[in-house]
Amino acid sequence: MTTDKRPDTMERIQTKELADKFIAEQVADIRAQVGDKKVLLALSGGVDSSVVAALLIKAIGKQLVCVHVNHGLMRKGESEQVIEVFQNQLDANLIYIDATDRFLSLLENVSEPEKKRKIIGNEFIVVFDEEARKLDSIDFLAQGTIYPDILESDGVKAHHNVGGLPEDMKFELVEPIKLLYKDEVRVVGKALGLPSSMVDRQPFPGPGLGVRCLGAITRDRLHALREADAILREEFEICGLSKTVWQYFVAIPDMKSVGVRNDKRYEGWPAIIRAVNTTDAMTATIEEIPYAVLHKITDRITKEVEGINRVLLDLTPKPVGTIEWE
Ligand code: XMP
Repeated sequence: MTTDKRPDTMERIQTKELADKFIAEQVADIRAQVGDKKVLLALSGGVDSSVVAALLIKAIGKQLVCVHVNHGLMRKGESEQVIEVFQNQLDANLIYIDATDRFLSLLENVSEPEKKRKIIGNEFIVVFDEEARKLDSIDFLAQGTIYPDILESDGVKAHHNVGGLPEDMKFELVEPIKLLYKDEVRVVGKALGLPSSMVDRQPFPGPGLGVRCLGAITRDRLHALREADAILREEFEICGLSKTVWQYFVAIPDMKSVGVRNDKRYEGWPAIIRAVNTTDAMTATIEEIPYAVLHKITDRITKEVEGINRVLLDLTPKPVGTIEWE
């Protein structure tokens, strides 16, 4: 195992050649560490866990067991992409768990943001633990820890929280990208052949759409949020903003306003667009989205998404607003 300190001499991985060299070294290290034993990985489909999965598949193939927990708060198409890439294309040993009903019933009528986060985090551990116990002879747990996680915290990711697993579920850790910065993880991911839609994706909070479906989550409003968010992402792809804007999403508050549709009163929720730029997420500025793009997004969301009758734009930098609404 490597140490937790990045050597001063370690070159920044910016080219395919350096990425390939890193991959070859890690494959050898992983094989040496793991031998013929099995490794478990919580595969969220985010950049870090996806790159770790691809590295481990290359190193040990089916000795890696990936568990993808769909908490029902994923963006549109995300769980499907995890299955397509890892199960269908990379032939991984993937266990897919649709835990939507469990999460949503625990979250029913819970409106306090921190309580929602705790429920989602705890239930994730419970579901993951249940699955881990069904498997025989797992000795290792792989994690997508990256260097900023080590610099900023105790090195354990909240939503892959090994520290949260019960005492008797202790595994030895495999953390092949723990000395890499995010941009390097992306270069390595590309060299491993992962699709750009997976490797170049924007950050997405562990609790997912749960912190963007504001207040107490209901299935109809969550559905509207997922559809509106998908339209925003599609339109940002079309106009090229997806390549430059750091993070963009829709949030939907738990309130309705009066509107009119087909000459009838139409009460609906507002979809709030947030698009920010930042380097470290500690402060953020607002992207100036062209009005033509905003008009098109507004038109599509209000026409295509059931339950939404207004589209609003959040112009608040951080501080004073945080990036997420909850
Ligand atoms: P805020 O809202 O604090 O967000 O300005 C800063 C960055 O962190 C992301 N974020 C989270 N990521 N679990 C995560 O993994 C969380 O609970 C969480 N909350 C916020 C947010 O999307 C933004 O990129």
